[in-house]
Amino acid sequence: MSEAERVICRVDRANRSAPGSSDNSCVRPAENIHRPHIQQAVNQLQTFKDLINRRSATMSEKEPADSGKSCLVGKKENLIEAKRTSVTVGDRVVVVIYHQGVFYAMDQHCYHAGGSLLNGDIEEIDNRLCIVCPKHKYKISMAEGEGLYISNPKDKDQPPCWKSKGIKQRVHKVTEVDGDIYVTLSETPGWIDSDYYQSEQGRMDLKLAKELDIAKSKSS
Ligand code: FES
Repeated sequence: MSEAERVICRVDRANRSAPGSSDNSCVRPAENIHRPHIQQAVNQLQTFKDLINRRSATMSEKEPADSGKSCLVGKKENLIEAKRTSVTVGDRVVVVIYHQGVFYAMDQHCYHAGGSLLNGDIEEIDNRLCIVCPKHKYKISMAEGEGLYISNPKDKDQPPCWKSKGIKQRVHKVTEVDGDIYVTLSETPGWIDSDYYQSEQGRMDLKLAKELDIAKSKSS
């Protein structure tokens, strides 16, 4: 910038900040655009807003596709040995879990942010068996798909206790016929939060999140 331009710029700033001036911005937009960290934050915000908009649009879909559909998912002995098995039923990705003599099936991607429940720990919480999502440790009851959380431990009026957020994860029915195991997709009507990650848009978001994780791990 020449000396003349610097003077013009100074005068311009003085004018903008003068009493009565309606323009009180003293920052030139060009300076912002060329700061990579600010531009990065703007991009991330835009991505987040796009995600929220897309999620809201998808949430207006009412019935899960393929509800009521049954599918042979494997031999009982193989599923018992594997303990956790990822299967596709219709267009849904489902995890089949064998635990303490009982089969469970639920959407594989966690309702919170799509983490895979395939390797989640199983804990008994408040007399209910729950799977703990490895990503952010949300607890989900395996029989009903309820999201459980502990009440505010700082609340002096009430000792901490487990509470339910309601059904958040879609669970499916498992049946056995002559040593074969079938999964029948849930027919519960209406929206359940885990439906999002079974939609086209949810899958694209998962793919994008995976690519971002890989890029981050490479750069660190
Ligand atoms: S993705 Fe499962 S707890 Fe966040």
